[in-house]
Amino acid sequence: MNVMQAIENRRSIRVYENAPVSREQLTSFLEAIRLAPSWKNGQCWQVLVLSDRAQIMRLGELLHGNPRREGVFENVPYFIAVAADPALSGEEEGKSYYMADVGIALENACLAATDMGLGTCWIGLFDEQPIKEFLGIPENLRLVALTPLGVPAQSPHPRPRKALADFVHDGVWGKPLV
Ligand SMILES: Cc1cc2nc3c(=O)[nH]c(=O)nc-3n(C[C@H](O)[C@H](O)[C@H](O)COP(=O)(O)O)c2cc1C
Repeated sequence: MNVMQAIENRRSIRVYENAPVSREQLTSFLEAIRLAPSWKNGQCWQVLVLSDRAQIMRLGELLHGNPRREGVFENVPYFIAVAADPALSGEEEGKSYYMADVGIALENACLAATDMGLGTCWIGLFDEQPIKEFLGIPENLRLVALTPLGVPAQSPHPRPRKALADFVHDGVWGKPLV
């Protein structure tokens, strides 16, 4: 699978098989984060790998039914939490680049997972404080995202996307390129 195929094939997977992910696959997923570009190469991310069943189920309780599919927590062998130290990234004109750093790094990893036949689902909506406390994440870090990592038990249809003409401009705002 080439990069464009991985981009096209990736879906948010919210139901998982009760099936293992190998250590090599987990390492490849983490390597895709490690190799990501970041603001001034600050590499502000910290990654927690959860593999303990009870811990994953407790995380599911703290997520209050998000995603709204119990299978996400019941079966999946890994849950990944990505935190960031904003001080290691940049802030310019009110833009905090740790969100971009983590976004790029985690999407790298989600595409690598797709290439390995594995599923992920970016989870960005949660009560940060209780989950940080549960995972022992230091106060000065922000918890940006969570994702399951496992063998998909569903093949969702692609969700709708805007057409290029809806957001691409040719040189000046409003002049269509396509
Ligand atoms: C920053 C971000 C946060 C997201 N947060 C959640 C979430 O909290 N819960 C959830 O079920 N999906 C979440 N998603 C997944 C989106 O709903 C999903 O990417 C979108 O509907 C498109 O579907 P697809 O990923 O299958 O292409 C999030 C995605 C992104 C990029």
